[in-house]
Amino acid sequence: MIFEVLSLFPDFFSGFLTSSIIFRAIENELLQVKLTDYRTYSKNRHHQVDDYPYGGFPGMVIQAQPIYDALQELLLEGNAPVIYFTPQGRSLNQQILQNYTSYERIILLCGHYKEIDQRVRDLCISDEISIGDYVLSGGEIPALVFMDGISRLLPGVLSDIESANSDSFSSGGLGFPCYTRPDIFMGLKVPDILLSGNHKLIKQWASEQGILLTRTRRPDLIK
Ligand SMILES: C[S@@+](CC[C@H](N)C(=O)[O-])C[C@H]1O[C@@H](n2cnc3c(N)ncnc32)[C@H](O)[C@@H]1O
Repeated sequence: MIFEVLSLFPDFFSGFLTSSIIFRAIENELLQVKLTDYRTYSKNRHHQVDDYPYGGFPGMVIQAQPIYDALQELLLEGNAPVIYFTPQGRSLNQQILQNYTSYERIILLCGHYKEIDQRVRDLCISDEISIGDYVLSGGEIPALVFMDGISRLLPGVLSDIESANSDSFSSGGLGFPCYTRPDIFMGLKVPDILLSGNHKLIKQWASEQGILLTRTRRPDLIK
């Protein structure tokens, strides 16, 4: 999987790319993350990319030209979906992440400031995704969320894919509570069933716990 990230702040991604599961996936050539600073495409003498909005509204709008040119160059290398992160997009969920795992290359566009020029959205974007009903300063965190969520679904990235398959949302509902050693911590004991060695009953317990949690916390997920 190749993620092509277009951002005005590519340094933002350095910690993400050099830590934990993502770092290992890159080392093992299961994942590539290519960063493009679209400021470098600006035809402005000072590489300025933002300008005042038409209509006299407050805030600054990123011009269409640098984003458009950067996207055209990436698309010349091969067709790929172009996702723009915006609070106005469809809400990200596990199913959307799962669907995107079938692509070999995905282009991710991070906005900033007030907005990007609507015309680049109209011309170039194939999907608009929101990571929640709140407003962040830029699309970098949403891009991280998206890349992280997809990466762990790719074959070979997690050492045990079964772990991801039993996480929340993988079968629609929430996951189950987990415990590790010691058996007793601050007077609280691990449920007996988990120490029983009976794998069939343990699986059933985990499934029931997941359903219970979903009913109480996320009844909207119960179909
Ligand atoms: C200040 S926000 C722009 C908000 C926009 N004017 C609006 O009313 O929806 C700047 C950038 O942050 C990103 N962003 C902020 N919140 C987001 C969210 N909840 N989901 C996805 N992207 C978000 C987008 O890329 C956006 O262009």
